[in-house]
Amino acid sequence: MKDFKNKTVWITGASDGIGKELSIQLADRGARVILSSRNVEKLNAVCAQLKGDDHVVYPMDLLKTEEIPQATENLLTQVGDIHILINNAGITQRSLTVDTDLSVDRKIMELDYFAPIVMTKAMLNHMIARGNGSIVTISSVAGKVGVPMRSAYCAAKHAIIGFMGSLRAEIHRHGIHVLIVAPGSTHTNISINAIEGDGKVHGVTDPAIANGLPVSIVAKKTIEAIIKQKSEIIIANKRESRLALLYRLAPEMVIKKLRNMRVT
Ligand SMILES: NC(=O)c1ccc[n+]([C@@H]2O[C@H](COP(=O)([O-])OP(=O)(O)OC[C@H]3O[C@@H](n4cnc5c(N)ncnc54)[C@H](OP(=O)(O)O)[C@@H]3O)[C@@H](O)[C@H]2O)c1
Repeated sequence: MKDFKNKTVWITGASDGIGKELSIQLADRGARVILSSRNVEKLNAVCAQLKGDDHVVYPMDLLKTEEIPQATENLLTQVGDIHILINNAGITQRSLTVDTDLSVDRKIMELDYFAPIVMTKAMLNHMIARGNGSIVTISSVAGKVGVPMRSAYCAAKHAIIGFMGSLRAEIHRHGIHVLIVAPGSTHTNISINAIEGDGKVHGVTDPAIANGLPVSIVAKKTIEAIIKQKSEIIIANKRESRLALLYRLAPEMVIKKLRNMRVT
């Protein structure tokens, strides 16, 4: 793929953070963007910022996974071909496992794992029939290494990498590209929107997030990986990239470090 002219890209979680920045940068590169998330006002505000005038705001609550297949059919009827799906919407956690209610594990799993797989399945036949397409999913460095205070989040982000790996092998023959993006700490509202063990919103920007990568870099590298049809990329500072790499090479060393790791 050379550019995004005549390409329609559907982005979940487009109202804020990484999804908002992906929308802006993809529109700058000529894409038509379909923006989804729950907050219509915020989606409209992002849409108004985009270069070009054929973008579409398509509000969805992805926790209502049972509504996704019909919503996808309706969208395809409305907009025609969708060439790239970016499963970006997500929520994280700030709690020890021992303090985490099962409803929190289920909520995170529903949004960070089941929603992207339902979205992907809803788009598959459409992409297979056309013989091309890209399915991009924003996982995390927490999908590569299990870190403290994030057991549900790490579980969902690991699970989606496994699902997409399997799917990638199955659908390459149909011309469909599958990309996993694993960002490290990125400066967004993610920790403000994170949930604690009892389901309460965390409401605080933690230091690692405040000092995280700018969304502009994460979006730019994600877009470059789509163009180059990469399978998986880690976008993180040196410390977090090294953690993911070391975990593959010398897991016991990292496991010992993680016992004393300070995570908020
Ligand atoms: N920031 C980081 O440090 C970091 C690191 C690694 C991976 N990630 C991943 O990157 C992705 C984007 O995160 P972010 O940092 O940009 O977070 P963010 O600023 O909190 O944005 C989250 C987005 O998800 C949407 N969303 C939340 N619940 C939703 C629901 N039920 N239905 C539909 N949309 C929903 C939100 O929109 P509405 O409120 O309008 O619904 C918002 O647009 C996530 O998958 C996250 O796990 C982030």
